[in-house]
Amino acid sequence: MRVLVACEFSGIVRDAFIAKGHDAVSCDLLPSERPGPHIQGDVLEILDDGWDMMIAHPPCTRLCNSGVRWLEERNLWDDLEDSATFFWHLLNAKIPKIAIENPIPHKYAVMLIGRKYDQIIQPWQFGHGETKATCLWLKALPNLKPTNITEGREARIHKMSPGKDRGRLRSTTYQGIADAMAEQWG
Ligand SMILES: C[S@@+](CC[C@H](N)C(=O)[O-])C[C@H]1O[C@@H](n2cnc3c(N)ncnc32)[C@H](O)[C@@H]1O
Repeated sequence: MRVLVACEFSGIVRDAFIAKGHDAVSCDLLPSERPGPHIQGDVLEILDDGWDMMIAHPPCTRLCNSGVRWLEERNLWDDLEDSATFFWHLLNAKIPKIAIENPIPHKYAVMLIGRKYDQIIQPWQFGHGETKATCLWLKALPNLKPTNITEGREARIHKMSPGKDRGRLRSTTYQGIADAMAEQWG
């Protein structure tokens, strides 16, 4: 399968699909953190390039429920609209199978995106003893089944002190979730 992994700089989901024998390519405005097939640029420009599946991780800062109060306090409504429009284009791309992951959205985001998510997953369901609710919007793909339910549900990344790596680590996909996507959807 030709798999586009949109908005991914880590290469984690891309490499999980490659390990299962797929022709997977990541795309991000940033370079890939590790070597592998990667397109550095705007993913909207390559959505029509004949992909069989897309897994996307669009920016969540203005869409997620945890940041909703900043919309009013900092007048970020235009940013919200830009982020939701970008998300909408991914969700409505003409690609047969699509999964988009993002944290729990606030009500304005759901309204602009056009629909609620299909599933919520947690890292602790996939071998990582941590909590981080992650929503999946799915097109022609089944819900992701837990692969390894673990003990210890501490939100390690939430407790990390601020630093230049915190944002990167917070947004990087968990390996167990990437492996489950490749195993169950690939
Ligand atoms: C929340 S991060 C996702 C990181 C991902 N989970 C990973 O493991 O690499 C969102 C990413 O979307 C990228 N992005 C934003 N706009 C984009 C665009 N138009 N085309 C491609 N990537 C974009 C950002 O550069 C950022 O790396």
